[in-house]
Amino acid sequence: MHTATEERIIRPARNIYGSLRLPGDKSISHRYGMLSAFAEGTSHFTNFSTGADCASTLRCMEALGATVTWGENGSVSVTGVGGRVQPPSTALDCGNSGSTMRMISGLLAPQEGTFTLVGDASLSRRPMERIRKPLETMGARLTLTEGHAPITIHGGPLKAIDFTTPVPSAQVKTCVLLAGLQTEGTTIVRESVRTRDHSELALRAFGAKLTRTIDSVSIAGPQTLRAMDAAVPGDISSAAFFLCAAALFPGSALVLDSLGLNPTRATLLDVLTSLGAHISVLNLEDKNAELVGTVQISSPPEGLRSTQISGALAAQLIDELPVLAAIAPYTSGGIRIRDAKELRVKESDRIALVATNLRAMGAEVEEFDDGLDVPGGQTLHGATIDSGGDHRIAMAFSVAALRANGETRIQGAESAAISFPEFFDLLDLVAER
Ligand code: S3P
Repeated sequence: MHTATEERIIRPARNIYGSLRLPGDKSISHRYGMLSAFAEGTSHFTNFSTGADCASTLRCMEALGATVTWGENGSVSVTGVGGRVQPPSTALDCGNSGSTMRMISGLLAPQEGTFTLVGDASLSRRPMERIRKPLETMGARLTLTEGHAPITIHGGPLKAIDFTTPVPSAQVKTCVLLAGLQTEGTTIVRESVRTRDHSELALRAFGAKLTRTIDSVSIAGPQTLRAMDAAVPGDISSAAFFLCAAALFPGSALVLDSLGLNPTRATLLDVLTSLGAHISVLNLEDKNAELVGTVQISSPPEGLRSTQISGALAAQLIDELPVLAAIAPYTSGGIRIRDAKELRVKESDRIALVATNLRAMGAEVEEFDDGLDVPGGQTLHGATIDSGGDHRIAMAFSVAALRANGETRIQGAESAAISFPEFFDLLDLVAER
């Protein structure tokens, strides 16, 4: 059971105006942190994620023998273990981070030793069978607790496999690739929907060779990784809250620079454009194969239209769906979301919590097993929001609150720090009242 500790009051805004540079992408920071800690040599990063989740990854990697030095403003140096971790004397604490737990399992399964992974109450409810299956097929021995964490991994040499992910998951894909990196033979991961490809790009940036087709990634092991330096692109999933907020007000003008625009992550820009927002992308650059650029957004005087999100789109937008659902009542035609059952097994049951909180604000919403129908043209009022300790719910409803009548109280607001500790300060900076 989550206990709310911090409450934030969000007052309505007139528009969103200004220019921001956001902290580093959470997904990329996890991968750079994990791979640098496993590599040979010392890597230096700037604009590393300031979120608690990426700190969980770095702490786990320190416990496994890597040296991590934190500098100012998201600069981090990591000296790696050169491909062989030290089994720690205590359990590795993954905190709230599913990415840490699932990806590190693949890194550790081929290593000598016994490793125990634990997480907080939310992470301990999330499904872990999805990593056990491929790792056991590779020959690893894992003990789960009724399909969940705590997980104990009895590491040792594995064999290569050809694996198709049963649900679209970049974490599961990465788990298998990190095991394959250390395993004799060619490990292949196939996926029906192309999920975020930061692991593939990061592995190459650390010197690994892999082969990609439209729906598969192959890695021939064993291979070693070499340290590298990188600036982490701004987090587009954090930007999503500001982009959606700006889209709500015809008077808004917002610029986000050095933003990660990897095509497997930037689908939100297409969705906001289809809703009628005006978006331009400038200064595109390639940084360690990650696309980075400046995004400008303004909103049309007639307001936002309607859209439907299903199939592959739902998988690609999975982290942005809560905020899209939260702004849907303010569109003219509403937003329909399907094929998003994975939302039910994120940091909270995001379908249920979005529906409950929209209703608390006076909105009409229909909940489905795999999505939501949120009609448009609605007027919302301020309410008390239960974030359920889920960072994306706390931030999504802070955005919905900007256009509600009256004040909204966000309970469990401290959870924003899981991915985006600066969220409330930056929102105050750009929300004009
Ligand atoms: C992530 C993958 C997604 C996403 C999560 C981060 C990653 O999870 O929801 O926030 O960094 O690989 P799944 O792999 O469970 O889809």
